[in-house]
Amino acid sequence: MMGRFYITTPIYYVNDAPHVGSAYTTVNADALARWHRLNGDQVKFLTGTDEHGQKMADAAARNGLTPREWTDQISERYRDAWRALDVSYDDFIRTTEPRHYETVQRFLTTIYDNGFIYKGTYEGLYCVSCEDYYTVEASDEGQCPIHHRPLTAMQEENWFFRLSAFEDRLVAYYDEHPLLVTPETKRNEALAFIKGGLRDISITRSSLTWGVPVPWDDRHVFYVWYDALINYLTAIGYGRDDDEVDQWWPYSHHLVGKEILRFHCVWWPAMCMAAGLEPVHHVHVNGWLLIGGEKLGKTMAISGVVKVTDIAPLELAREFGVDALRYYLLRETALGNDGEFSHEGIVARYNTDLANALGNLVSRVTAVVVSKCAGVSPPPRPESPLRGDAERALLAMADAWERFAPQRALEECWQLIASTNAYLERFAPWKMEPGPEVEAVVGDALEAIRLVAISLWPATPRVADEIWRRLGLTGSPSDTPLVESARWGLYRGGYPIVKSDPLFPRIERRGESA
Ligand code: MSP
Repeated sequence: MMGRFYITTPIYYVNDAPHVGSAYTTVNADALARWHRLNGDQVKFLTGTDEHGQKMADAAARNGLTPREWTDQISERYRDAWRALDVSYDDFIRTTEPRHYETVQRFLTTIYDNGFIYKGTYEGLYCVSCEDYYTVEASDEGQCPIHHRPLTAMQEENWFFRLSAFEDRLVAYYDEHPLLVTPETKRNEALAFIKGGLRDISITRSSLTWGVPVPWDDRHVFYVWYDALINYLTAIGYGRDDDEVDQWWPYSHHLVGKEILRFHCVWWPAMCMAAGLEPVHHVHVNGWLLIGGEKLGKTMAISGVVKVTDIAPLELAREFGVDALRYYLLRETALGNDGEFSHEGIVARYNTDLANALGNLVSRVTAVVVSKCAGVSPPPRPESPLRGDAERALLAMADAWERFAPQRALEECWQLIASTNAYLERFAPWKMEPGPEVEAVVGDALEAIRLVAISLWPATPRVADEIWRRLGLTGSPSDTPLVESARWGLYRGGYPIVKSDPLFPRIERRGESA
């Protein structure tokens, strides 16, 4: 069914360049956005950079730049990386833009006017890398439990948000909206956190000037998290264009990492309630890509040695191709679980799924068209034995994409690839004499490949377009909505097909055992 889909990634800190961990969230959000576009939905896909806070001010100073110069540079690197990975965002927000200042100030002034903000003193242990406070109990013996660095004791007179006033309202809201947070384990985690009791939160800083000024107190700027969450409203014109907010906000989906669940699933809905706005429609929480069991992309100081678990996505894209990297990020781990990242893992997926299963299917079918059908593609049979497999896979894929399960959608697509390969092996058209029998088998396989190309487009758009071209079709599978294209029997055939290079030449090196 056609509808609207407003999908967001978290906005990335610009203390560092993009790494595979940030690419993971972004590519998943991109594939979801693309699937919805293919489905004929109106889509808005937002990503961007989170540029305020102590961490950014420190990173700029370390590099001898002003925060503005620093954030300009790094934010651009995110845009470059996403362009290179075919990330089809509709809007890229920077929290240092005037439109964001305007929305943040409006939104928070509304909360202030509604009586949910007051002045108090904050004391706590602070981790600059998390830009977050920890209680003594939540700390790892005075160290940050994520970054394993000493926490700093801080005391400040700040403005506070009365989060505690929203405990009951949040619980009721969760009850009424069972799909507010997915997967269910993460929903339970958020709910348990709420039911465990909520403390008011400090939302401003006076020790820092690198932030959005508090409109009612010019000695303070907003705490970076408090301005950051509001980006999702800035991009749809909150405070500037009510119609745009009405158009997108009821269809909003945030994809966020598990370490920022509390901000998105507790603070953020409460902030919206305090501002008199319906909370976000849906938050899907993803797990981490790990390397050696640690979160990828993290800088840690262990026993005085700085270890950076950093991998540059663009290098991987150069080594394996953009689509192979995207495929690996989408296929290897269910969106919600943690997964171990490895070069060997990419090579294995590349060789098994892309080179052997998909690449081989396309090569052998096009080769048979050339050798047995005079290079002209035959049409499929309306009642082919492959039809049922294809229809089942299409339905299962649609369901998986709707449920934020790209991995599952791709498994279904590969199921169809496997059925088509098995079908070809059963009839071995390459051994047949040219004639109607070969044409029937090959026409069926070509139709299955057409449906595979459509299904692949959200995940691996370049190869989907290339397969389309090899089938003799013009344009891209994305030119036509699914309802009009993803049906058995629409491949008309009669197109000239030529022999071409393998889509994914096998990689014979690292990770190869045989
Ligand atoms: N700036 C905040 C988000 C503010 S949103 C209003 C932030 N930025 S971040 O750059 O640290 O992380 C952004 C996203 O990247 C998070 O969802 C985080 O989980 C994701 N990832 C960073 N490293 C990751 C992995 N190793 N694996 C999976 N996702 C990871 O938090």
